[in-house]
Amino acid sequence: MGLSPWLLFLFSVLVQTSAILADTDPGDSAGLTAIAANWKNKPSNWNGDDPCRDKWIGIICTGNRVTSIRLSSFGLSGTLSGDIQTLTELVYLDLSYNKDLSGPLPSTIGSLSNLQNLILVGCSFSGEIPKELGQLSKLIFLSLNSNKFSGSIPASLGNLSKLYWFDLADNKLTGTLPIFDGTNPGLDNLTNTKHFHFGINQLSGTIPREIFSSKMKLIHLLLDNNNFSGSIPPTLGLLNPLEVLRFDNNPQLGGPVPSNINNLTKLAELHLENCKLTGPLPDLTGMSALSFVDMSNNSFNASDAPNWFTTLPSLTSLFLENLQIGGQLPQALFSLPAVQTLRLRGNRFNGTLTIGSDFSTQLQLIDLQNNQISAITVGGSQYSKTLILVGNPICVPGSTDNYCVAPGHSNPTAAPYSTARNCSAVPTPCLSNQLLSPACICAVPYRGTLFFRSPSFSDLSSPSNFVPLEQDMKTKFAKLNVPVDSIAIHEPFFDSNNNLQMSLELFPSGKVQFSEQDISDVGFILSNQTYKPPAMFGPYYFIGQQYSFANDLLVPSTSKKTNRLPLIIGASAGGAVLAAAVVAIVVCIARRKRTPKRTEDRSQSFVSWDMKSTSASTVPQLRGARMFSFDELRKITNNFSEANDIGNGGYGKVYRGTLPSGQLVAVKRSEQGSLQGSLEFRTEIELLSRVHHKNVVSLVGFCLDQDEQILVYEYVPNGTLKESLTGKSGVRLDWRRRLRVVLGAAKGVAYLHELADPPIVHRDIKSSNVLLDERLNAKVSDFGLSKPLGEDGRGQVTTQVKGTMGYLDPEYYMTQQLTEKSDVYSFGVLMLEVVTARKPLERNRYIVREVKAAVDRSKDMYGLHELVDPVLGAAPSALAGLEQFVDLALRCVEEAGADRPSMGEVVGEIERMVKMAGGGPGHESASESMSYASRTPRHPYGGDSPFDYSGGGMPSTRVEPK
Ligand SMILES: *[C@@H]1O[C@H](CO)[C@@H](O)[C@H](O)[C@H]1NC(C)=O
Ligand SMILES: *[C@@H]1O[C@H](CO)[C@@H](O)[C@H](O)[C@H]1NC(C)=O
Ligand SMILES: *[C@@H]1O[C@H](CO)[C@@H](O)[C@H](O)[C@H]1NC(C)=O
Ligand SMILES: *[C@@H]1O[C@H](CO)[C@@H](O)[C@H](O)[C@H]1NC(C)=O
Repeated sequence: MGLSPWLLFLFSVLVQTSAILADTDPGDSAGLTAIAANWKNKPSNWNGDDPCRDKWIGIICTGNRVTSIRLSSFGLSGTLSGDIQTLTELVYLDLSYNKDLSGPLPSTIGSLSNLQNLILVGCSFSGEIPKELGQLSKLIFLSLNSNKFSGSIPASLGNLSKLYWFDLADNKLTGTLPIFDGTNPGLDNLTNTKHFHFGINQLSGTIPREIFSSKMKLIHLLLDNNNFSGSIPPTLGLLNPLEVLRFDNNPQLGGPVPSNINNLTKLAELHLENCKLTGPLPDLTGMSALSFVDMSNNSFNASDAPNWFTTLPSLTSLFLENLQIGGQLPQALFSLPAVQTLRLRGNRFNGTLTIGSDFSTQLQLIDLQNNQISAITVGGSQYSKTLILVGNPICVPGSTDNYCVAPGHSNPTAAPYSTARNCSAVPTPCLSNQLLSPACICAVPYRGTLFFRSPSFSDLSSPSNFVPLEQDMKTKFAKLNVPVDSIAIHEPFFDSNNNLQMSLELFPSGKVQFSEQDISDVGFILSNQTYKPPAMFGPYYFIGQQYSFANDLLVPSTSKKTNRLPLIIGASAGGAVLAAAVVAIVVCIARRKRTPKRTEDRSQSFVSWDMKSTSASTVPQLRGARMFSFDELRKITNNFSEANDIGNGGYGKVYRGTLPSGQLVAVKRSEQGSLQGSLEFRTEIELLSRVHHKNVVSLVGFCLDQDEQILVYEYVPNGTLKESLTGKSGVRLDWRRRLRVVLGAAKGVAYLHELADPPIVHRDIKSSNVLLDERLNAKVSDFGLSKPLGEDGRGQVTTQVKGTMGYLDPEYYMTQQLTEKSDVYSFGVLMLEVVTARKPLERNRYIVREVKAAVDRSKDMYGLHELVDPVLGAAPSALAGLEQFVDLALRCVEEAGADRPSMGEVVGEIERMVKMAGGGPGHESASESMSYASRTPRHPYGGDSPFDYSGGGMPSTRVEPK
C-alpha cells in the first residue's frame, strides 16, 4: 500500500485533533485499553482510544468516566488484568458467559470503591476469591457462580453490608462457612443479604447456627451438593423469611431435623434428600406454602404415613423414597389440588391403594415401587397417568396389569415440553447458523441454558408449566426494549444436582441477528437478574453461549468474525489508523464483490430445492445441521477420490472426509437422478437435524450446491450390523455384544417413537441400517423413508407402502396404515437375523416363518440349534437369555400390530437380558454414559423411573422383580 506522505500527514493531523477532543478520562481510557490487550474477541468497534466518545459496545460512560462494562457472551478469551483498578468509577462489571476468560481474579478489584454489581457467571476464573472483595462497601450483587474458584470463602466478605445477592455456587470452594469470631466478620454479618447460593462446591464443617438467626433476612439458602457434616442447627425455625431451603446431597449431614422447622411457614421448597438425617420423619404440619418436598434417602425412624400428607394445600411434588414409611396411604393425598408427582418407592405402604374419583387433574406420576400394597381401588374416572406398583404383593409373577410392568415401558410418559412452531406454510430451510423461530422465521438465536434451582413443579411435559415462562419473558423483554421476537424452550430435565435445566433460544425481532449491543443488553438482563421468572420457577441462573455475530452466513463457521480488523501494523498511530481504514475499505469492497455471487448461489439452490420438494405437510426444522459448499466437501474428501470411497448404494457413494476441525465425517453423495429422490433427501435432513440420540446417527450437514444432493454424517467406523453378521466387516460379535448392539438399536428406535416430537416411524429398520461405532455402539441410520406421525403425538398415517422386503410389516402392507408397530415388526425380523445370521428372505425362505415353525419351547435353546448362527457356539452358558430373546422377537413379529410390544418395552426386556448375559452396567456402559453425560446428566431419582432419559434419551429399567 503506497500511501502518499500527504495522506499520512492529513491522517496524523486528524488523529491528533481527535486526541484533543477525546472526552474519556485518560486513566479510564488507558486502563480499558490495557484490559482489552489481554482479550481476544473484543467487540468490533473497540478501536482507537476513546471508549466513551466512540461508544464502545459494552461500555457505558457517565460523563467522561466508564461506569459500566457489560460483555456477556462475546466469546472473550484471556485474563482479567489488574488494570481494572484504574476504572475507579466503575459501578457494574459483567463479564458473564465468556467461558474462555480464565486465570485468577486480580485483587485490585478491591479498590473499585464504587462497584455495585460484580457478575462473572459462567467464566473459567480460578484461584482463590480475593479477600479484597470485602472492601467493596457498595457491593449489592456478587455472582461468581459457575467458575473454577478454589480455596475458602473469605471472611472479609462479611463486611459487604449492602449485599443483597451472593452467589458462589458451582465452583471448587472448600473450607467452612466463616462466622463472626469476635474479631473477623463472617456470613452472619450479612444481615441484608437475601440470597446465599453456595451449592455445588466442596464446602465442609457444620452449618453454623448463626445463619439461622432472626437478624438474617435470607429467603433462599442453598447449601446443597457440598460436604457439610454435623447436624442441622437447632435455630432453623428462627429464619422465618425463608422460601427455599436446600441441604440436599450432603452425605455427611446427619442428626434429627429440628422440630421447629414448621415455623418456616413461608417455605415453598424443601430439599433434604440424600443426607443421613435421623430421628423422626420431620413434621411439616402447618407449612402451608410448601410445594416441593424431597426428603428421600435418609435414615429417619420408621413411621406411618403422617397426617401432613393430606394437609399441604400447595403441594405439587412429594419425594419420599426409601424412608421406611408404612401403613395405609391416605386417599386424600391424591386429591390435593396441586399435586403432580408422588415418588414414594421403597417404603412400607401396605393394604389397599385407594385413588378416589376426585384425584387431582394435575397428577402425572405415582411411583410406589417396592412397597407392600396388596390391592387397589380406583374410583370414578379412571386414573390413566403413570402408576408403578412393581415390587408390591399385588404384582404376582406373571401379572399383566400395566402398573405391574416395568416402569416407563407400559406407560410411556409424555415427552418433555418443547416450544411448538406454528408454521402455516413450509418455510425454506434455514442457513447454517440460523434456526427456525417459533414464529417460523429463520434467524440467529441467542442461546443458552436456564437453570432453575428449585422449581415448585415437577411435571416436565405440561405446557402449563412452561408457556407462562415464555410469555413472561417476552413481555418483560419488550418492556426493557430488547428486540426479542420469540422465545423457545427445549428439553427440560432435572440434572444430577437436582436443578431443572432447559435450553433457551431468544430470536431477534425484525432482523436476522442480534447486534453486539443487543447481546450485551440481553446478557446483562439475565446475569444481573433484572429478569425475574414467574414465582413457580424459583431462583435461577443462566449460562449463555457465545453469540455468533458473523454476518456472512454462507461462510462456513471456520471463518471467524470478519469484521475485526488486523491492527498490528508497525507504524505510527496515525499510520495505523490510516492503514486500518484502507484495509477496511479494501475488505468492504472485496466482500461486496463476493457477496452477490454467493447470494446467487444460494437462491439457485433454494429454487431447485423448492421445485423438487413435493411435501407440503412437514415443516423443516434444521437444528444443528450445517450447510456446506460443494467446494468445501470436495476439499475434505480429496476431490471425492477413490481412496476416500467407503461405500456404495443405489443412491450413489459414501466418502470419508476430515473437517478442518479434525472431525471425521461420512459424505453421502447422491448420483444425479438416483433412487434417493429429492424428497427422501429432504426428509432425511429434516428429521435427522432435529433428532439427537447416541443411538441415532447424527447429521453434520448437507450440501445443495450445483444440483448436488450431499449429506454429511458423523463417521461411524465399524460398518453395518449386517456386515458384522455376514463376516464381511471383520467385526466379530459374540452373543453379549449382539445383545448390546440390539439394545442400542432398540433405544435409537424407541427414541424416535417415544421422545421425538412429533414421533417418527423409521420405516426401514434393517441390519444394514444399523451402524456400529468404534465401541460397537449401534446407530440407527438412513432416514430417507421416515415419517413423522400425527400432531397429537400418537397415531397413524395412511401412506404409500415403502420399506424393504423381508422386513416389511404385513399389516402395514395390507392396510397401508403406518404406525410405530411397523418398525417393531421390522425390528423383530432384525432380532431373528441377529440370532441366525441369515438374510430375512432368501430363496423363498422367510426367517419369521422358519423360526416360528422350529421353536419348541419344551427343548433346550427352544430346539433352535440348527438355526442359531454357528459362530455363536452352542454352549447354553454362552447364549444366556437366548430363549427370552427369541420370545421377544416373535412377539415383535405378531401379525397384529396391537399384539406387538412397544419399542420401549423391547428396550426394557433386552436390558434385562444384557444383565443376565453378564453385560450389565459394567465397564462398557460406564464409558458409554460418560460420553453422553454432558447432554443428559442423570437425575438421582431418575434411575428407575419413567422420567429417566439418561444415556441419551431412553427410559431405562433397573427393576429387581421380587
Ligand atoms: C459482625 O456481627 C457482630 C455481631 O454479630 C458484630 O459485633 C460485628 O461488629 C459485626 N462486624 C461487622 C464488620 O459488621
Ligand atoms: C418462629 O419464628 C418467629 C419469627 O421469626 C420467632 O419469633 C419464633 O421464635 C420462632 N419460633 C421457634 C420455635 O423457632
Ligand atoms: C400395615 O402396616 C401397619 C404397620 O405399619 C400394620 O399395623 C397394619 O396391620 C398393616 N396393615 C395391613 C393390612 O397389613
Ligand atoms: C441490574 O441492573 C440494573 C441496572 O441496569 C439495576 O437497576 C438493577 O438493580 C440490577 N439488579 C440487581 C439485582 O442488582
